[in-house]
Amino acid sequence: MATDGLGSADAHALLVDAATRRRFRSRLLAWYGQHARNLPWRRSRDPYRVWVSEIMLQQTTVAAVKPYFERFVAALPNVAALAAADEQQVLRLWEGLGYYRRARGLHAAARHIVQQWGGQFPRDVAALMTLPGVGRYTAGAVASIAFDVRAPILEANTIRLLARILGYDGDPAKAAGQRLLWHAAEQLLPQRDVAQFNQALMELGSLVCTPTQPRCDECPAASWCAARAAGRQDQIPRTAARVAVTALREAAVVIRRRDAVLLRQCPPGERWAGLWDFPRFAVDAEGPLTIRDELIAKVRAQTGVAIEPAGLMHTLTHGVTRYRITLDCYAGRPVGGRIRSTAQRPVRWTPLPLLAEIPLSTTGRRIAQLALAKAGEPR
Ligand code: ADE
Repeated sequence: MATDGLGSADAHALLVDAATRRRFRSRLLAWYGQHARNLPWRRSRDPYRVWVSEIMLQQTTVAAVKPYFERFVAALPNVAALAAADEQQVLRLWEGLGYYRRARGLHAAARHIVQQWGGQFPRDVAALMTLPGVGRYTAGAVASIAFDVRAPILEANTIRLLARILGYDGDPAKAAGQRLLWHAAEQLLPQRDVAQFNQALMELGSLVCTPTQPRCDECPAASWCAARAAGRQDQIPRTAARVAVTALREAAVVIRRRDAVLLRQCPPGERWAGLWDFPRFAVDAEGPLTIRDELIAKVRAQTGVAIEPAGLMHTLTHGVTRYRITLDCYAGRPVGGRIRSTAQRPVRWTPLPLLAEIPLSTTGRRIAQLALAKAGEPR
């Protein structure tokens, strides 16, 4: 284990001394009592609401999740309602949150809970972990927050907090770091009121032990913090090397026929599986075709429809994982061919008023807004 003069992280007083742990818990809970945010998923301990919030909070900030969570549980207030919902409705409620695999997993898991477990959430971490999208963290969060089960949690906020307290300067994403930090999260657990304790740990990580410029003066754990003692808060936890961003150019085409536009549904296995999209593809700037011929050929290949390109409407830029994408949105007129639609790859003329109801990717929604604005213009 890397120690760099901090003393061995796994010999930290919090891990080896029960009296120190008691003092830590009591200070942490006192701090939480004063500083806990009033978040919508904290208003009840219904396991369904805890689970939905934790799935949404994977890879997404609290601020972004709040309105989505409220809308989602208002529309689908319990696991039976989610299980009975159409996947299109679930994706529409998720639209804009990204990482749509989470929504598809949530829906599949709800069906499993209803069909296999009679609509009841198990309290057991191992059973919860059999659900799609539920790993050790999410299972621990649901079991502890909803049922006070003595299950540890470890996510971005608590990784940062515990790595700093322990002075662990290895990579927390690697096996040795994970072992140490899960062990710490488990050692620290109280016998009761685990729900409060786990949420307090996350809250402290989120509000005080922030990635940059942590507010150590306000921290109830400051006196035990090895990173602070060594003045190394900005070096711990070690962060993964940044991946290089790659630029890509794509084109999407708004093809209008009377009051409808041509859309395709993204097939299973694609990032946006289940969502609808305008014909969209990578543009090969160095290829042999002009952009006009490329639009004609690629729309035909994706949909079966022959088009006449009718000009650039707009250019959007957006990021997907490590790609920076420049997306040129063109207009196109249908001039022939026939829709080629299969069960796996549906393609449809979609009436403009229906666009509000069907799930689109974030950029798909922006293109739809452009299409609607254009439809409102005098021809
Ligand atoms: N991040 C992940 N889960 C959280 C929760 N329950 N509250 C606040 N931030 C979180």
